[in-house]
Amino acid sequence: MAASASPLVEFRGVEKRYAAGAAAAVAGLDLAVERGEFLTLLGPSGSGKTTTLMMLAGFETPSEGDIYLDGRSLADRPPHKRNMGVVFQNYALFPHMSVAGNIAFPLRVRGIRGADAAAKVEAALALVRLEGLGDRRPDALSGGQRQRVALARALVFEPDLVLMDEPLGAYSRLESPGENSPYSCGRNRFHSPAARALSFSASICGHSCHRLFWSWTKS
Ligand SMILES: Nc1ncnc2c1ncn2[C@@H]1O[C@H](COP(=O)(O)OP(=O)(O)OP(=O)(O)O)[C@@H](O)[C@H]1O
Ligand SMILES: [Mg+2]
Repeated sequence: MAASASPLVEFRGVEKRYAAGAAAAVAGLDLAVERGEFLTLLGPSGSGKTTTLMMLAGFETPSEGDIYLDGRSLADRPPHKRNMGVVFQNYALFPHMSVAGNIAFPLRVRGIRGADAAAKVEAALALVRLEGLGDRRPDALSGGQRQRVALARALVFEPDLVLMDEPLGAYSRLESPGENSPYSCGRNRFHSPAARALSFSASICGHSCHRLFWSWTKS
């Protein structure tokens, strides 16, 4: 992403009402996120964390205000053109696709196919320690394994920004990410931005955050 004086992400006067006359799920949100910044949103259930994240990713539209990426309004930019990796709160894996198919999906929509895509999928599976499970369907995985597929799918295309909505709740090794954890392995094996992102998320959640919104950018 080109260097620029604008914050990487900026919410300006953002409000979200899911229906006319309904209470605001998000109100008066002004927030700037700088390049390389690591941001966690903490708040009680229903306080608008997921709504905020979905507006940034492009799956929800603000009722008022606007969101800027690198100084440019995101109002007319669809999700797949925002280059953001998203781990959804419920993972949102495609049940009819294999694990490998799920991870390959964001590559496919970006026109990456064949051997290139296969190599990236294999690397992503290794990053989250799911080697050999590419042919399984999501319903044949444990909750923690599903969560790791969602992580791999969010990271496989090396996004500019990663948004994770409580991404690590089902991951049992957070307290002591060791040599076998996807997080430390990611850091050791990959020098990609995505791998560094993973090591960061492990350290934050080690402090027992239970509501997490997290972002990280390529420098
Ligand atoms: N699709 C929707 N239609 C109508 N209301 C919604 C919708 N999604 C969320 N809301 C409402 O918007 C408010 C904020 O919800 P949101 O999911 O953003 O909260 P949250 O902070 O992520 O909560 P949690 O910690 O429980 O995940 C809640 O009152 C919720 O009921
Ligand atoms: Mg939520």
